[in-house]
Amino acid sequence: MTETLRANEMGRPLERLDGHVKVTGEAVYAYEQPVTDPLYLHPVQSTIARGRITTFDASAAEAVEGVVAVLTHENAPRLAADDDKELWVLQDDRVHYRGQFIGVVVAESLEIARYAADLVRVEYDRWPHDVELRADRDDLYAPDVVNAGKETDTDSGDVDEALAHAPVVIDHTYTTPMEHNNPMEPHACIAIWDAENGGGLTLYDSTQGVYVVRRKLAPVLGLEPERIRVVSPHVGGGFGSKGTPHAHNVLACLAARVVGGRPVKLAVTRQQMFAVVGYRTPTIQRVRLGAGTDGRLVALAHDAIEQTSRINEFAEQSTTVSRMMYAAADRHTSHRLAALDVPPPFWMRAPGVFPGMYAAEVAMDELALACGLDPIELRVRNEPGTDPETGKPFSSRRLVECLREGARLFGWERRDPEPGTRLHDGWLEGTGVAAATYPRELMPGNHALIRYGSDGCYQVCIAAADIGTGTWTALTQIAADALEVPAKVIRLEIGDTDLPQATVAGGSSGLSSWGSAVVGAARAFRDRHGPRPEPGAEATGTVPDNPAAEKVALHSFGAQFAEVRVSADTGEVRVRRMLGVFSVGRVINARTARSQLIGGMTMGLSAALYEQSVVDPRFGHVIDHDLATYHIAANADVQDVDAVWLDEVDPFAGPMGARGIGEIGIVGAPAAIVNAVHHATGVRVRDLPVTPDKLVGRTGPDSRTAA
Ligand code: MOS
Repeated sequence: MTETLRANEMGRPLERLDGHVKVTGEAVYAYEQPVTDPLYLHPVQSTIARGRITTFDASAAEAVEGVVAVLTHENAPRLAADDDKELWVLQDDRVHYRGQFIGVVVAESLEIARYAADLVRVEYDRWPHDVELRADRDDLYAPDVVNAGKETDTDSGDVDEALAHAPVVIDHTYTTPMEHNNPMEPHACIAIWDAENGGGLTLYDSTQGVYVVRRKLAPVLGLEPERIRVVSPHVGGGFGSKGTPHAHNVLACLAARVVGGRPVKLAVTRQQMFAVVGYRTPTIQRVRLGAGTDGRLVALAHDAIEQTSRINEFAEQSTTVSRMMYAAADRHTSHRLAALDVPPPFWMRAPGVFPGMYAAEVAMDELALACGLDPIELRVRNEPGTDPETGKPFSSRRLVECLREGARLFGWERRDPEPGTRLHDGWLEGTGVAAATYPRELMPGNHALIRYGSDGCYQVCIAAADIGTGTWTALTQIAADALEVPAKVIRLEIGDTDLPQATVAGGSSGLSSWGSAVVGAARAFRDRHGPRPEPGAEATGTVPDNPAAEKVALHSFGAQFAEVRVSADTGEVRVRRMLGVFSVGRVINARTARSQLIGGMTMGLSAALYEQSVVDPRFGHVIDHDLATYHIAANADVQDVDAVWLDEVDPFAGPMGARGIGEIGIVGAPAAIVNAVHHATGVRVRDLPVTPDKLVGRTGPDSRTAA
């Protein structure tokens, strides 16, 4: 086990160090970087979902005063590698999904660029397209692996046989819709081409990982990675959608090449984001649970159907949680994909874990009812002794404590088990619970540099990202404790490929991975320079070896509770209270951690009740492609959301003992709400989101029997 860091700064609710520059507007985001004499871009998007461009008539656009260039597949610079087809823009006449970037106008102002883009006339050979995910498709296929490199299918024992003989069987299909990430800051970048010395690029980008952008764009642009500098000090949210470069980055780089060194600026519009920056695939999940009358699982099967695009494969790992969550002798999990004429899906907070735990934890609620058991007691009875997936012991598995502590804080014992019986003033009231989990990931490839200055401060450099999560603050606290100095003498530098290499802010791995590298650098610094370094002293370091982590299964856990009321007349659902109790290893900053957890829970509430991207199959686009029609939970929708955590340090989880907190808050929240809606109404909604049409006319003790 690596030596665990003593906490002095860690754990404190230190205020965000970047808070002042953010609230005063001084924090510089990608699009606002001061550059000289910039040009502005506005993309042209395809208006068909599949086919070929036959005519691209840019003459009217080019005639507009202030238009510098219109790039199309006919005149754009050539790209070098087409391994990632999403990034292969303006290279041929093919259209693979509606909204694909097929051109870009470069102009002296944003208004001119946008106006001119409207004047472009495109004609197509329109080919039949297919954008509908259905379970009965005959072209579903098994990908080689699913996201995060996990196995597509797993089998242990004979689950069908076990289900055939189980005294209690739950067998239902649950669906989750397509959802789109909507960070407050849309995707944006500024690209500057420097023709000197064989050419190089500077990219100010809104990204979850500057090195990821460099690594992915270098082969596409045919440049050595070192010739691309990516800068990203402040990011207004990402949720996964900024975890990789997208087509707009390539458009900006192409445009930068043709304008003689002037900077080009591109901000993806909110509506464009619904086509070009990834999204959460819809899922169709069948969950089968076989149990004894005492609720103990004997069989567990979880099969997911999802979509991907024909050009790039992305396979959401929706059933992997069922491999490690509960013990059952016979288990089966699978993933099947339909490749459609749609944009490539990508990460959205807790990919796989979020939809998978939604289905699995609603199914557990159904099993509890079928067995006449309290849903907490059912989960307690199914606690595995070791990780069912690997057979290893868990580094720490305190799910039962989370459930029991949550029950105590939430007042669970007051709950009447009978569903659909509490009607007050026209509102049906109920409570629900669900478990949460998220794997601890530690990304390899992190390095940090520490330098001592004549001002008595330590400069700590690593190309980490702060996407609103609190990295500026929490990584400063880690550095302070690693160097055994107060946080106020740490000068952190992040968000630039001129700094030592760092991995993406994703998979809830960022702070623990970067922090471990900072600890490695601090140890190297102290070994070399001692406690009283000379100004100019420096050292680099990386993540300390941690062989003990190989011997255990590292996962975070949580318990989510929700209280809802449902209008018996309209089916409207209001979430009155949510509580999450989490076991996540060490919490580095109590303030930003709570913000992450309640933010995740709020996003879960939003997914439970509101969020869904509706595709018009005739045209292949998302019709609710703006914040007026794609409803995200707003203040009035969110009442009392609270998160607490068990006080702990996971000694297997690296030098800080932290397992990561970015995603677990969204996991389990929708299941808790759906289970509470059932408790309130007696109606089981299995298809997210729980919109009023799924409840109206079916709620209330009388109508329920009639329904
Ligand atoms: Mo997060 S979806 O792992 O960037």
